[in-house]
Amino acid sequence: MRLFFFLLLLSLFIFSCGRNKNVSSKEAKNTAQKAVIEKGRVLFEREDCSGCHAERDAIIGPSFRQLAGEYAATDANISHLANMAIIGVKPEQGIWGSREMTPHPHLKQEDAEAIIRYMLSFPADPKKPFLHNTK
Ligand code: HEC
Repeated sequence: MRLFFFLLLLSLFIFSCGRNKNVSSKEAKNTAQKAVIEKGRVLFEREDCSGCHAERDAIIGPSFRQLAGEYAATDANISHLANMAIIGVKPEQGIWGSREMTPHPHLKQEDAEAIIRYMLSFPADPKKPFLHNTK
């Protein structure tokens, strides 16, 4: 009987440790994501992105909220958009209008992705018409 209780307690203990581990790995993931977004914010300010992009209003390029309306923050979208920021967009190739995005060839893919994660961390604004495909 004692052995039974001992085993019961032991399994409860192991079970609860496992649960805690799950919760804390989720928290760790959230903290890591927040750290990447913060790194992206710092890089966004340091690079020239803020001259053409802002949270709410389209300056020269689309706003963060317009981007959020077009793109879910999936790994595939983030990698694609980071690449766009690195290679730039010629006016005649624009999908948001016909303005140019200067290339940023010095940016590492990883850093560009952090900036995009920051830009896509805002909610979409349903009241703002998207420029996409409306040349
Ligand atoms: C000189 C102005 C300018 C600067 C500087 C600039 N952008 Fe842009 N960006 C634009 C324009 C204009 C567009 C829209 C291009 C189009 O019509 O496809 C754009 C589009 C984008 C898009 C959306 C691309 C797509 O295919 O939908 C992303 C993401 C982006 N910029 C990120 C950045 C980042 C990150 C930086 C800084 C490293 C940056 N931009 C700097 C003007 C700029």
